[in-house]
Amino acid sequence: MMRPRNWLLLSMGAVLVPLGAFAAMKLVPGWDPMLVYPTEHFWVVSAAALLSALVGAGLAMSVESVRTTRTVYLALGFVAIAMVFATHGLGTPGLLIPETDYPYAVIISAGLSQFLGAIFIALSVVPRRWPGGTFVQRHSTDILAAGLAALAAYLASMVLRPELWDFVPRSRAWDSMLAGTTIVLLGIAGWRYFQAWRLTELPGQLAMVTALGLLGVAQLSMYYSDLWHLSWWLYHGLLLMAFLVVIGGWAIEAARAKSLIVFARALELRDSLDEVRSIADVRVLESLEEAVERKDAYTRHHMGRVAEFAEGLARELGLPERKVLVCAAAGRIHDVGKITVPDAVLLKPGKLTPEEFELMKHHTVRGAHIAKLHPELESLAAVIRAHHERFAGGGYPDGLKGEQIPIEARVVAVGDTFDALTSTRVYRPKRPVSEALEELRRVAGTQLDPDCVEAFIRWLERTGRLDHYTLGASRPAA
Ligand SMILES: [Fe+2]
Ligand SMILES: [Fe+2]
Repeated sequence: MMRPRNWLLLSMGAVLVPLGAFAAMKLVPGWDPMLVYPTEHFWVVSAAALLSALVGAGLAMSVESVRTTRTVYLALGFVAIAMVFATHGLGTPGLLIPETDYPYAVIISAGLSQFLGAIFIALSVVPRRWPGGTFVQRHSTDILAAGLAALAAYLASMVLRPELWDFVPRSRAWDSMLAGTTIVLLGIAGWRYFQAWRLTELPGQLAMVTALGLLGVAQLSMYYSDLWHLSWWLYHGLLLMAFLVVIGGWAIEAARAKSLIVFARALELRDSLDEVRSIADVRVLESLEEAVERKDAYTRHHMGRVAEFAEGLARELGLPERKVLVCAAAGRIHDVGKITVPDAVLLKPGKLTPEEFELMKHHTVRGAHIAKLHPELESLAAVIRAHHERFAGGGYPDGLKGEQIPIEARVVAVGDTFDALTSTRVYRPKRPVSEALEELRRVAGTQLDPDCVEAFIRWLERTGRLDHYTLGASRPAA
């Protein structure tokens, strides 16, 4: 698999090369020849519109499994581009309308398709804490209905009364305003998707960043080129490429994860991460848990229970308050890295293949990476990374042993193991608590720190939690 850094370089190259090409065409006389091919224009535009529609439909289909406003906005953005751009293709002079007749509405449709698309794509990334952020999330149905109505009205007017659009000023200043706004909107969306990519480092998400960059360059070549010139053809090619890149990114994700990548998940996680102010503030960690819950509800509840066990055990061991806090907070998000584990692996009912297990093991490294991206969570990174190390060595990812493993990680590991034993999973039923305790004692010294195991059982007994389990109180599972 290619390294994330290389993917990033590839992505930057894909955007910068056409940008340089456009600059060269404008600067070097003779590098921008005129090429008049109306039929080809129609086909290129239609292909781009079709691909954009495919991207929109693909996103809309993924909404069913993960209900999220963000994905709906993103889908509508691509659908808007597809629909308005298709009318631009149909309006090619010499195709359906006479060569001499060139309704102004056809000309503005190209720019407008991107402008409308950019508005919806930008809506898909609005963080909750921004002014209007919650409004955008809460009133999504109204906003989407209004958007679709405006889109339909525009398309109808294009077909029936194109002259209505003659009022739009035909000036450089107007063009620049529209192009500038579109580029800014695409830039904001691109930046947010880039931040989300830094969390997961999944190629599918970088593909979205690349596509938005290509759409941005397309704006320049759309407004600052002359009709039928090579620089004008460039924008058609760039649009085509942008949609192909998104679809290509999905193909990579589909091969890897066997499911369509959902962009919203990483955005949510990024949002939650940005809201974290202190690990002592319980509310902020909650939003991180919620982001995980959207991926896998079991993991969220599991982490909540592990946090409780870890905190209790840390106190039982008499660790200093600061470490108790780290144990509790790390417990709450120790499996946050699972957000990047493909669904097909994370939710698989049967036994994992060796390759699938490798992907699963990666959640420790990825979780630490996510924690490191936030100054307030940095202290948790080492604990998250080490929560699957074994006391006698041979664990992952670093194969540490004994005291090399941070005490907080040894504490979390005990809670993690106990909860795994006493929860029902798709691949096995939960075990009676007496068996779970037996198992903890059996692995003390090999998998788990024996002092921690002893203190944990003492804590369970002392706080009456054992009775709770023995009586078989119902508890959330799966
Ligand atoms: Fe884990
Ligand atoms: Fe866990």
